Amino acid sequence: MTHRILILGGTTEARQLAGKLAARADCLVTLSLAGRTESPVAQGVPVRTGGFGGADGLAAYLLEMRIDLLIDATHPYAAQISANAAQAARVAGVPVLALRRPGWEPVAGDRWTQVDTTVDAARALGPAPRRVFLALGRQEVAAFEAAPQHHYLIRSVDAVEPKLAVPDASYLLARGPFRETEERALLETHRIDVVVSKNSGGEATYGKIAAARALGIEVVMVRRPALPDVASAETVEALAAIVNQFGVDHFL
Ligand SMILES: NC(=O)c1ccc[n+]([C@@H]2O[C@H](COP(=O)([O-])OP(=O)(O)OC[C@H]3O[C@@H](n4cnc5c(N)ncnc54)[C@H](OP(=O)(O)O)[C@@H]3O)[C@@H](O)[C@H]2O)c1
Repeated sequence: MTHRILILGGTTEARQLAGKLAARADCLVTLSLAGRTESPVAQGVPVRTGGFGGADGLAAYLLEMRIDLLIDATHPYAAQISANAAQAARVAGVPVLALRRPGWEPVAGDRWTQVDTTVDAARALGPAPRRVFLALGRQEVAAFEAAPQHHYLIRSVDAVEPKLAVPDASYLLARGPFRETEERALLETHRIDVVVSKNSGGEATYGKIAAARALGIEVVMVRRPALPDVASAETVEALAAIVNQFGVDHFL
């Protein structure tokens, strides 16, 4: 019997998990992307793109497509879609598993200031002008217009449009992973004195955190949002193992 699995993605792990599960003869995997990135990397499995229309829309999709298992492998800061996934699974009576990559913890030498939102992060930069590296994603940087006295270096996968309404900002287009040595060179070249980051967890974007530590630079770390309490695993391997060990039938 073939099992239909819908993976909510937009992360490297979602793509890797999709590949692993699609290799099973009894699984038909579809990966769902929000459609934010203009040219997403090839995913290797069938992809559908765009919002579902809230939790109700997702529940209707699960029923219409006869999905047997929903996997939420979205980014830890994508709180809305994770909440929708938990609710839609309940409404549609479809089992749900989440891939929850653990956050980074500060270690000796780190100079972190932890805040709850990007608005708080802009405030935490203080009144005196500083040279700030914003490694946040283009949806979040607008909050820094409230602190126009700083110089900003803004890195994103797609161009920030419209540009930030501040007098002194430069832009860098790049897609991770980013290694510590290159991140260190970037921070030095741009004479950065504070990094603003999400607590994404994982290896791919940790380079800037390690580089900031090595250079004694402050990191303003935006804490993770609250996510719904659903059965979860921390890694692609662990989540694939749950599906393999019990078989998809276990979740039905
Ligand atoms: N937030 C980040 O820092 C970040 C970083 C890297 C990658 N991403 C990825 O980018 C996507 C969007 O992030 P976000 O912060 O905008 O999410 P969000 O605020 O939680 O979601 C906003 C809306 O976007 C739609 N959506 C989000 N993810 C979707 C998916 N995988 N498939 C279909 N629709 C989706 C849903 O629309 P409807 O309500 O209409 O269904 C959702 O309500 C996510 O897939 C996430 O994994 C986010």
